[in-house]
Amino acid sequence: MALRDIIILPDTQLRLVSKPVEKVTPEIRQLVDDMFQTMYDAPGIGLAAIQIGVPKRVLVIDLQEREDGADAPEDDANEAPVRNPRVFINPELYEPSEDYSVYNEGCLSVPDYYAEVERPARIHARWLDEHGQAHDEPIEGMLATCLQHEMDHLEGVLFIDHLSRLKREMALKKLEKARRQKRAA
Ligand code: NI
Repeated sequence: MALRDIIILPDTQLRLVSKPVEKVTPEIRQLVDDMFQTMYDAPGIGLAAIQIGVPKRVLVIDLQEREDGADAPEDDANEAPVRNPRVFINPELYEPSEDYSVYNEGCLSVPDYYAEVERPARIHARWLDEHGQAHDEPIEGMLATCLQHEMDHLEGVLFIDHLSRLKREMALKKLEKARRQKRAA
């Protein structure tokens, strides 16, 4: 496994439309491993291949929550984080619900900026896993939001594109300021 660099705005690669994976090969599994390592290190809960400069339709997600949704008890605070890695290759979404949910979203390619985004609360998804196995499932909650956010990356869309122009300009200004401070440091 190798840690890869995450590309951030204003890198124009983030605007590329990613290409379908023709076959799930050992190289694709290596890419998936690198993506998980990079995502956990960041740390984040989702990553699209284009965020490490690879324009392929591959997503990794790990909400790092217990399946039962319960919070870890206090004395578990020092335990290793819960791992629930999910791989989505060539994902397709269909039948979005008519009701929406709102989550405060962030993105590893838009550092230090968070904003509420409204998306369909439930969707259906079809995808291949890292073994080339096909899946077709209804998805809801945080996973539905996260999957829609990551899907956007495959089309060259970022979460800030869903915001009002005013909010998006605020986000870009903040990024620019952080970049200037880094250069000055
Ligand atoms: Ni993102």
